[in-house]
Amino acid sequence: MKPPRDFFKPLAIGAPEPYRTLPVKLERMIHFFPPHVEKMRAKVPDIAKSVDVILGNLEDAIPADAKEAARAGFIDVASSTDFGNTGLWSRVNCLNSPWFLDDVTELVDGIGNKLDVVMLPKVEGAWDIHYLDQLLAQLEARHGLDKPILIHAILETAQGVKNVEEICLASPRMHGISLGPADLAASRGMKTTRVGGGHPSYGVIADGEGTQADRDFYQQDLWHYTVAKMVDACQTAGIKAFYGPFGDFSDDAACEAQFRNAFLMGCAGAWSLHPKQIAIAKKVFSPDPAEVAFAAKILEGMPDGTGAVMIDGKMQDDATWKQAKVIVDLARQVAAKDPDAAAQYGL
Ligand code: GLV
Ligand code: MG
Repeated sequence: MKPPRDFFKPLAIGAPEPYRTLPVKLERMIHFFPPHVEKMRAKVPDIAKSVDVILGNLEDAIPADAKEAARAGFIDVASSTDFGNTGLWSRVNCLNSPWFLDDVTELVDGIGNKLDVVMLPKVEGAWDIHYLDQLLAQLEARHGLDKPILIHAILETAQGVKNVEEICLASPRMHGISLGPADLAASRGMKTTRVGGGHPSYGVIADGEGTQADRDFYQQDLWHYTVAKMVDACQTAGIKAFYGPFGDFSDDAACEAQFRNAFLMGCAGAWSLHPKQIAIAKKVFSPDPAEVAFAAKILEGMPDGTGAVMIDGKMQDDATWKQAKVIVDLARQVAAKDPDAAAQYGL
């Protein structure tokens, strides 16, 4: 085990010091674009203004013969665009692919000072994080970067889920984890053909007689266990949990429901793969104004956060004060970015 004092030492001479706490950022949606497509690159400066994070995807969904073009296209558009407060991320190819090494070395060389986060797919254990951690430190030192590039892991293999606590704790460079339901379904041998969301046959049937058609059947959430495990692992490590992709672009209601389950269970955001999912994520991952108003009442009713009071017939104590603080802190972050939300929240 690494001694605690060494945890925050740079892993290469000349690399920037690791962060002790994560930079505070609103990250309700991570918006994916395919950088090998010129038409998509042209939209980046505008889309970047409407999202919290924009991500150049180099991994799955990019054809093998377009991998180099995607990497070069991402570096090109990232170099020439001013992203303001919007986070700039890239999803690189996985560690055992022929593209990973050039992805990381060329990104750090080309846009190292602009790139906030590298998203690493198919992470199996802490050893995957340690490798990228060391490589990034060497490249940061070589290129004289002034801030560390963070790592965001995708949780999308059965082994990764088993090791999620160690993955979260592997390095101070860890930013967070996203659930990757499509690869995870394949890795687990789940009998589905979907990118996230539920399945009509996964549920519980009410007591009674007759066939399923004669009885009430309640669809259940296929991802409940994994999201809960991921959130606990992330919060323990002081990093952020995210729901990943929702692939059925024809079912906005189901996308919203999946995102909301993640939000309520502790996730900070989700991926948007289609422009219409940006608005869905913005709505879901910004707290509801009525909840914010009630949370603000709790904070006002218990100024030092101790004791017990009744508000609107409901008992409040230290624990509800802490829940209220989560909601009001998030509302303040949203309000700082969005004047309409600030007005709605009365902040
Ligand atoms: C995302 O990468 C997924 O596999 O769901
Ligand atoms: Mg995947």
